[in-house]
Amino acid sequence: MATNRTFTMIKPDAVGNGYTGKIIDDILAAGFTIKAMKYIHLTKAQAEGFYAVHSERSFFGELVDFMCSGPIVAAILEKENAVEDFRKLIGATNPANAEEGTIRKKYAKSIEANAVHGSDSDENAEIEGNYYFSAIERF
Ligand code: CMP
Repeated sequence: MATNRTFTMIKPDAVGNGYTGKIIDDILAAGFTIKAMKYIHLTKAQAEGFYAVHSERSFFGELVDFMCSGPIVAAILEKENAVEDFRKLIGATNPANAEEGTIRKKYAKSIEANAVHGSDSDENAEIEGNYYFSAIERF
């Protein structure tokens, strides 16, 4: 069942480069409502837990180190058709392939330092949101 919610992280590259406000503006301008948000610096274990699904991938170690390299902003977002619309808003995983006007095209440098994460399914949006936010932090 479609939940109309998705989960995002503004990654260490975008936070470190001062793009947090611009990215949140883009998200709100696209019609998303923020249902939960926090500014945190992940430990290695926390990043490994979040990306456990990628643990066999060759880039896993680099991905985890990168996600611990500075603070991030994690958020649950709501909108009709949230997962699909958010993935359109952020653009392709590799910013070199992202369309003009997308968040990754505007603010990302590489496939690893790609500015934002967006859930790839309703099921993962729920799992990922629950990883970061307890029941009383979500409404
Ligand atoms: P994200 O949507 O957060 O989910 C998994 C992440 O792995 C992805 O964004 C990329 O940042 C990262 N990733 C995917 N492929 C590669 C790769 N070949 N090298 C480094 N990082 C990658």
